[in-house]
Amino acid sequence: MIFLNGQFVPIEKACVSVLDRGFIFGDGVYEVIPVYSRRPFRLEKHLHRLQHSLDGIRLKNPYTNEEWGELIGQVVGKNKGDDQSVYLHITRGVAKRDHPFPDVPPTIFIMSNPLLPPLPELLEKGVAAVTASDNRWIRCDIKSISLLPNVLLRQIAVDAGAAETILIRDGYLTEGSASNIFIVKDQVLLAPPKSHLMLPGITYDVMLELVIKNHIIHEVREISEEELFSADEIMLTSSTREIMAVTRLNEQPVGTGSPGAMFRQLHQFYQQYKATRMRGGTDS
Ligand code: PDD
Repeated sequence: MIFLNGQFVPIEKACVSVLDRGFIFGDGVYEVIPVYSRRPFRLEKHLHRLQHSLDGIRLKNPYTNEEWGELIGQVVGKNKGDDQSVYLHITRGVAKRDHPFPDVPPTIFIMSNPLLPPLPELLEKGVAAVTASDNRWIRCDIKSISLLPNVLLRQIAVDAGAAETILIRDGYLTEGSASNIFIVKDQVLLAPPKSHLMLPGITYDVMLELVIKNHIIHEVREISEEELFSADEIMLTSSTREIMAVTRLNEQPVGTGSPGAMFRQLHQFYQQYKATRMRGGTDS
């Protein structure tokens, strides 16, 4: 069951006009919220980022955070599985094709899919990544549904049998095609600073909070391409992939070629944090 413009309907019955500006222009924004034990993880932070994205495209938020929470709860309740991945999407609505903003209600869509934990084998071995030039626009902080550049960049990884494409802009690491990237050099965890050139990941924030709480030496600063290629460890984070070790980059081993000590530690902290959350602890 999905939510579309005020109604709950089976996904096969859900219809959107071909004139929807999401379809015509990619004119909309979205969020992906992980749900563990039927409880949305870091909901407030996701809704805060949604507001940032809506402000970025000058679209009024159709609901209050309480209303979003209620709707998301209902979608989760109507779908199978304790762990789910909720996708919510707002477009500028349906209007005759013309670039200026129309005066019409937005299209609001929420769906949910089962959320599966990363395969043990991938946690054990890590994943491969390739690099590519970051040719996206310069408002990557907006979670826009116009994902064509991300799709094309991700396909470079798929074609190379890899799991992610790590993006480089002007000689510096930005993020992955659908993830944030951390590296480790000489036992220091390095994270690129948030800017208009990357999505402010909710999992990225969780990682940095865990790093601070556990007194792990870290620096939030620009990471050069050379540092990426000489990293002892590389990790990716996202709401759907949690934290994963990147153990091959452009067909070369990263460090020893196996998930490193920092990854194992952070993965464990993340799982402990999630477990606290699932037992009903606070989410901050
Ligand atoms: N993508 N950077 C990009 C470009 C992303 O698309 C994502 C997530 C992230 C990680 O953000 P978070 O930790 O909040 O999930 C970083 C989602 C999962 C997607 O598009 O499916």
